[in-house]
Amino acid sequence: MAERIQAIVAVDANVDQSQLRAALPEDAGIDVIGVIDGLEESWQTLQETSPDIVVVACSGYSDRALYFIDSAVKQASQRPVVVLTVGSPNGFVRRVFESGADDIVTLPESAERVAFTLMKAIARRQGAAIASGEALGAMICVLGPKEGTGKTLTATNLVVALAARGERAIIVDLDLQFGDVGLALGLRPDKTVYDLARSGGSLDAEKLDAYLVSHSSGAKALLAPTRPDQASAVSVDFLRDVFTTLRTMSEFVIVDTPPGFTPEVIAAIDSSSHTCMVGMLDSLSLKNTKLGLETLDLMGYDPARI
Ligand SMILES: Nc1ncnc2c1ncn2[C@@H]1O[C@H](COP(=O)(O)OP(=O)(O)OP(=O)(O)O)[C@@H](O)[C@H]1O
Ligand SMILES: [Mg+2]
Repeated sequence: MAERIQAIVAVDANVDQSQLRAALPEDAGIDVIGVIDGLEESWQTLQETSPDIVVVACSGYSDRALYFIDSAVKQASQRPVVVLTVGSPNGFVRRVFESGADDIVTLPESAERVAFTLMKAIARRQGAAIASGEALGAMICVLGPKEGTGKTLTATNLVVALAARGERAIIVDLDLQFGDVGLALGLRPDKTVYDLARSGGSLDAEKLDAYLVSHSSGAKALLAPTRPDQASAVSVDFLRDVFTTLRTMSEFVIVDTPPGFTPEVIAAIDSSSHTCMVGMLDSLSLKNTKLGLETLDLMGYDPARI
């Protein structure tokens, strides 16, 4: 997900250019990557680019604009469309919404106000996508059925590399008894998944965030309990909730696991979008890696996501 929003403005005939320019956001996190004269030309551009939002500028009642909105919505139903119009003749506003547009602004209007409307349209779409499960971040479960194959090494380096690239990335230490993600990343376990599990009450993103420890790369970590006897306080059902909530909070959730298919590990695999199997080339490790891959197969895990 890009941090800044990219917008394309499709301009119908007879639109007052100076009025339109004055209404287009200058900054506010939105980049106008193209202002295209003519809806046919705009349609061409839409085939070649993938903006986050489409703005349609028109003047008075325009069937062309309605047709364009309808086509743009059909092309990418997740991408919001906002209409800027000069004058809103009878029936036009209703038709605009019927065509699938998210919002309509009557010009003249300040660039700030328009930027706000665009942001609102995007936020609403994202909210709807999260509610329907589509905007969940990727969750990569790092597996290795044998001890000491480099799972923690892989998982910690992965989360740091993603964070350094500007992604929101969170690592979960699922080695509940002997987790060493904190040690590997040089983080103090001031708060761990044990504290979170003991806190009671319902789980939401804000609460979960308070139990994450931050790394200098920008990565965040949900650390393992500090003592093995605390592991039993963390139930599998609780972990399932944690995984889902974390995926709404970030682009990537990386899970470091203990060796073997423990119930927590199976729950993590179930909740994940991808798995990464770490093995070594000695025969013992190869045998276990093969068994691990066969187990994923038995679980019905899509091989394309391994
Ligand atoms: N590719 C590698 N090259 C050199 N050293 C490695 C490599 N992978 C792992 N190591 C080292 O091997 C040790 C074990 O690695 P790591 O802790 O990542 O394994 P693990 O699979 O998480 O082990 P466990 O099953 O005990 O959690 C560490 O000291 C790590 O630095
Ligand atoms: Mg480990």
